[in-house]
Amino acid sequence: MTQSELVKTALDLVSPGKGILAADESLGTIKKRFDRINVESTEEARRSYREMLFTTPNLERHISGVILFDETIRHATAEGTPFVEVLSEKGIIPGIKVDKGAKALAGFPGEKITEGLDGLRERLIEYYELGARFAKWRAVITIGEDIPTGACIDANAYALARYAALCQEAGLVPIVEPEVLLDGDHDISRCGQVSERTWSGLFTALHKHRVASDGLLLKTNMVLPGKDHPRQADVEEIAEITVNSLRNTVPPSMPGVVFLSGGMTYLEATERLNAMNVMGDHPWQLSFSYGRALQETALDAWQGDPAKMAAGQAALYHRAKCNGAARDGRYTREMEAEAS
Ligand code: 13P
Repeated sequence: MTQSELVKTALDLVSPGKGILAADESLGTIKKRFDRINVESTEEARRSYREMLFTTPNLERHISGVILFDETIRHATAEGTPFVEVLSEKGIIPGIKVDKGAKALAGFPGEKITEGLDGLRERLIEYYELGARFAKWRAVITIGEDIPTGACIDANAYALARYAALCQEAGLVPIVEPEVLLDGDHDISRCGQVSERTWSGLFTALHKHRVASDGLLLKTNMVLPGKDHPRQADVEEIAEITVNSLRNTVPPSMPGVVFLSGGMTYLEATERLNAMNVMGDHPWQLSFSYGRALQETALDAWQGDPAKMAAGQAALYHRAKCNGAARDGRYTREMEAEAS
């Protein structure tokens, strides 16, 4: 894999009208999602749920890549076709979550550091052989009294940089994901300050570690008030402050920013992404890498019932289509009625 192939994969992931489906829930997280619809999280239930998602007719019109979990990248359809093959045949790029989760950062109460660097080179070689062409590593930054500390931001930035360098060595495009959490009663400007510190620390570390900025993607939060803040922000304010904070800190050579949806409703996730793209051209593509905002309605329609597979797929397709439009600034509220 050459540098130009990395750049091509990164650009393909953020091509017009498309974004990424995050279906890389760890065992603990998928259990939480299944609990909500009263489905037991057995390996077969997880496999058949993901088969429902990945075999959605025409999914490739609006989805460029899918992030898988270690268990899922090894799974196949009931008929025996590996998921990686199902996706690749549609022109959807398979990706893999490679971090081992956020753990308490020693000496810094309330803060976390993401683990998973030991043995990563060997794991990436295996994932490449299994068909993955991009990867994801999530770091968590919490806003609170006296946090985040510089130590937490730096520790996570350097872990992300080491991960990203290993990915590029192995021929996988690294998605670097620092998530500033929505928890707390802070206002939107505090989230903006923390997000800027986080992004700026991350790009400094990536540069020090000789990571090529045109062969990676940034996955991150939108700039939002804390969920317990008394005044929530409107969509234009969120779009403007998010784009400004990114412009202050993210190099234009980086091909794209793909947002996560955690803590937003699926409609908010679509409308806010649309508002940013309506603002005009930006130095990078602004797209999505949604988990909950793409899967919530599909899970509700599916309910673990094989007879409701088509309903689950219709729900996923609809959200993918709406977000594909939002990613180009073409989304309208009327589109929601089209599916129902
Ligand atoms: P959400 O969109 O549900 O936040 O998930 C995206 C993701 O991959 C978080 O790491």
